[in-house]
Amino acid sequence: MSTINAAASGQFKIGGDITINRLGYGAMRITGKGIWGEPDDREEALRTLKRLPELGVNFIDTADSYGPEVSENLIHEALHPYKDMLIATKAGLTRHGPDIWPPLGRPEYLRQCVLMSLRRLGVERIDLWQLHRIDPKVPRDEQFDVIKQMQQEGLIRHVGLSEVNVEEIEAAQKFFKVVTVQNLYNLVTRQSEDVLDYCTTNNIGFIPWFPLASGDLAQPGTLLDTIAKKNNTTPGGIALAWILQRSPVILPIPGTSSVKHLEENVAAVNIHLDDEDFKQLDQQGRQEQQKQGS
Ligand SMILES: NC(=O)c1ccc[n+]([C@@H]2O[C@H](COP(=O)([O-])OP(=O)(O)OC[C@H]3O[C@@H](n4cnc5c(N)ncnc54)[C@H](OP(=O)(O)O)[C@@H]3O)[C@@H](O)[C@H]2O)c1
Repeated sequence: MSTINAAASGQFKIGGDITINRLGYGAMRITGKGIWGEPDDREEALRTLKRLPELGVNFIDTADSYGPEVSENLIHEALHPYKDMLIATKAGLTRHGPDIWPPLGRPEYLRQCVLMSLRRLGVERIDLWQLHRIDPKVPRDEQFDVIKQMQQEGLIRHVGLSEVNVEEIEAAQKFFKVVTVQNLYNLVTRQSEDVLDYCTTNNIGFIPWFPLASGDLAQPGTLLDTIAKKNNTTPGGIALAWILQRSPVILPIPGTSSVKHLEENVAAVNIHLDDEDFKQLDQQGRQEQQKQGS
């Protein structure tokens, strides 16, 4: 076993029955600029994916819209049949060009998305399928209902949501068990604290996207910089260590297109912040969020 292994991040049971190592991988960055088309370096993207199981990373997050299709296809090429790995995908966003993602939650479209992801990933059932966004133009109950039907039909094993508040999670729970929530969250982006607390209380996996960010806290000479140097790592490494310690239901999915960055990110599982460093970072992160007024 490599001395760097995601197993050291601890384990979480998705939906109570799929055990994963908490530190996962986000497969959005193995695409072209604007998350559109093929990646600049396809071979490196495949190497990065193949390195995941060697580093104990057994939880990958992707979406049909990454590329679109490119990320799911590369995952299939590199890792099928996914021995002891959980491949989570998402749908509910259309793609009209680089960085353009209009939501579409019509039931017949969501069903097509699931069927196409099954085909691209080469599986008979998607172990964790997430609604990428609730489409505000379509009654949400219609979106939840088709998801419930697809789960009953066995196309989906577990269901997650993305960019939702507590009220929306509770509304969805009337249709199916929500096992994960994927919201923007990092040291300096804290508007989902109430959702994280709800997930922690209810043992719902909380998947923070953009987990590596630390904004201005990463400037040379700051507390974060000092703690990073003390631990012989980068501010990104400390941002990951902090987020892993923030709650046992947090499942970070740092994304990268390079083996080097992947190895650096997984190495963060060996960092343990003492209580004082954790508390001070937490406070500074909250202050930074308030300063940005977001
Ligand atoms: N649900 C949603 O709406 C939503 C939205 C966005 C993302 N996501 C998911 O969340 C995952 C993570 O989000 P994210 O990719 O936006 O944020 P992130 O993982 O925090 O950051 C990724 C960026 O950091 C760089 N990076 C990664 N490791 C690094 C390292 N060790 N040193 C220096 N730079 C490094 C990457 O570039 P390199 O490729 O050069 O390493 C990339 O530009 C995505 O892959 C996706 O699965 C979900």
